[in-house]
Formats: sequence, structure tokens, C-alpha cells
Amino acid sequence: MHCIKKITDNLLWVGANDRRTALFEGIYDIPDGMAYNSYLLMDEKTVLFDTVDKSVRSQFLENVAATLNGKPLDYMVIHHLEPDHSATLEAICTTYPEVTLVSNAKSFAFMAQFFDIDSKIKKLEVKEGEALCIGVHNLKFVLAPMVHWPEVMVTFDETTGTLFSADAFGGFGALNGAIFADEVDWLRDYLDESRRYYTNIVGKYGPQVQALLAKAAGLDIKMICPLHGFVWRKNFGEIIKYYKLWSAYEPEEQGVMIAYGSIYGNTENAAELLSCHLRDMGIRTVMFDASVTPAPRIVAESFKWSHLVFAAATYNNSIFTKMDNAITDVVAHNIQNRKVALIENGSWVAASGKLMRQKLEACKGIEFIGETVSIKSAVKQEDLAQIKALAQAIKNTF
Ligand code: FEO
Repeated sequence: MHCIKKITDNLLWVGANDRRTALFEGIYDIPDGMAYNSYLLMDEKTVLFDTVDKSVRSQFLENVAATLNGKPLDYMVIHHLEPDHSATLEAICTTYPEVTLVSNAKSFAFMAQFFDIDSKIKKLEVKEGEALCIGVHNLKFVLAPMVHWPEVMVTFDETTGTLFSADAFGGFGALNGAIFADEVDWLRDYLDESRRYYTNIVGKYGPQVQALLAKAAGLDIKMICPLHGFVWRKNFGEIIKYYKLWSAYEPEEQGVMIAYGSIYGNTENAAELLSCHLRDMGIRTVMFDASVTPAPRIVAESFKWSHLVFAAATYNNSIFTKMDNAITDVVAHNIQNRKVALIENGSWVAASGKLMRQKLEACKGIEFIGETVSIKSAVKQEDLAQIKALAQAIKNTF
């Protein structure tokens, strides 16, 4: 049975939720599922905004057919060619061969790489600022390269003030019957997953996100319809505040995120002792064991907190594998403007501190605090002073 959500009298959500797939993009765990949003605007002409992932193909096609209810599909606007939104594009073209595909030149080039669209399907190539009138609604197209791929664009419905924002303002997590962010306690229940989504999907592209925010600031936006997560019809300031922080690589919270990679628990012990000292000094801390916490969560937490401590055992004369993976991921997502401290451990030679520092030095605005705590195998009485000294050095920066 079709499952459609009404956004306005003539704008319908025809997307679908997936709560079965374990990994989004083959990397990110999605314990709360994933929403693939698609919208159908019913005017003199009908317009479908994007399609969905192949995992929810059947539900989506049923939703589109029920909404059209026998009317032709005139246009399909494609904001983003990544397959979580385009995988069902060919099915739409097959079912509605009268459709005209609307997108930009780069997007059509990617489309040819991914699919073999029937050459008889009409295409309308649009450029920055061009518009399409479909009756009452006037759709203006705005390019948003690298939010999240080079071909991304967004559409602003000038008639209603609706921004179809592609990946921007999305999040991990299925929609469980609600469609608007103001129907749920977004800050309590969805901020963490929105941060994990943002930082891992577009965190690397902060300047490009800021360029889109600057363009959006010039629009009279009344509603935001992203490709994942909830529709925003009020309190945009909530999510935009976080987008401004994340895209500028500014922390949300003052406090210390400690991520450690420990083989037998001795590096963990040093990290615990540091955390206890910091707490005794009134500083908030969170801790993650890189062996069990997936790297994308550590990426997200690195964006959240002002101070980062990385602690790792030395393993095969390198950084312990799981911690190496986590730091590589943090660096790859362009973390900036953080105060960083390090703990290393090594039974033969402690090399992990120097190696972690080398990786993090590639990032802008990283300030290393205090002396790297260096442990030989296990924390001994004589090591406590250097752990306490590092805690004090961190405390001095608050
Ligand atoms: Fe939701 Fe970049 O795709």
C-alpha cells in the first residue's frame, strides 16, 4: 500500500524508509534506519524531485503512482546523482517515458556514467539561477557543488519559499511516521545523528557548505525539504546554527573527547587516569575505545568537542590499527581549529605519539597541548606525574 505524507496541499512526500540495511554507503552503520526523501509537486505540470535508493524502490514507485493517480509525470528534477537518490531514476523513466529530466550539465554527464537512459527521454539542462515555471510555482535552480558531490544543485520554489536542499540539512535515521522536524524532539533525539551524517558525508567540504549557506541567506526560505531526515517548516535557526559551526570547523561544546586504541588495556588505563584528573578539575570529558567505536562516530565527536586527546599503543612500529583508522578518518574529514593532546605507549619503542602528531599536523588550526604522555607497556607510579601534567596543561587552555 502507498504511504505518502502531505507537506502542503500540493506538495507530497513520496519517499520511503529503510530499516533493514546495516550500512549506508557501505560504511556508516544506521541502527535507526535511513529515510530517502522524494517529493512530488502537483501543479499544472507535475514535478518529481529526485528518486530513492534501490532498497526502497517498490514503496517509492507505489507512492509516486498513487499521488499522480493517472496524471502524467511532466518533470523530474535531479539534484544529486549519488545512487542513494538516483538508483530508481531508470525505473521512473521506464514507467513515465513522457517525463523531462531537469538537471545541470555535470549531472547529466554523471547520469550517462551510471545509467543507460533511453535516448528518447527528454532532458532540460539548467544553469545557475535559471528558472522553470510549472503553473503557479516558479522553480529556481541554484548550484551547490561539493555539497556533497560536484554536480549537486538545489531548487528554490519562489512561490512558496520552499528550498529543496539535496543532502544539506539531512541526517541518518528513518522517519517514523513524522515528516516535520517540529513534530519530534529534534535536539534530543536527532541532533547526534544529524551531526554524524553531516560530518562524515560533507564534513570535508566546509567552504562549499558555507557558500550554499551564503546563497540561502539571500532567499526568503519558508520551508526546507532535504533528501534525508525531516522537513523544516519552522525554527530553521536550530539546524542552521549547527551547520554554521560544523562548516566553519568550530566546536559545539567546550570539553575533551578522548579516543584511545589499547591492545591489552594499558593505554586505556592512561586515558582513564587523564580523564579522571580532568573531571576533578571540572572539565567535561567523553571517551571512546577505537576498537569498538566505529571511526565515523569518532569523526562526529571530534567535530563536537573543543579539545581532542588521542591515545594509542604502538603496533608493528605504527599506530595501533583501529586508532590509526580513526585518526586517518578524522584527518580526512578536514578537522580544524582544535586543541590536541597525545598519549603513546610502546613496549619496544613508543612511536605512536610521533606518528599521530604527523597525521594531525596536516590539519589547519591544530594546537598541540603539553608534552605527549609516553608509557612503556603499563602505567607505573613514576608515570602519574606526566599524566597529571598533561591534565594541567589541558586545563590551562580553558
Ligand atoms: Fe544522500 Fe550524497 O547522497
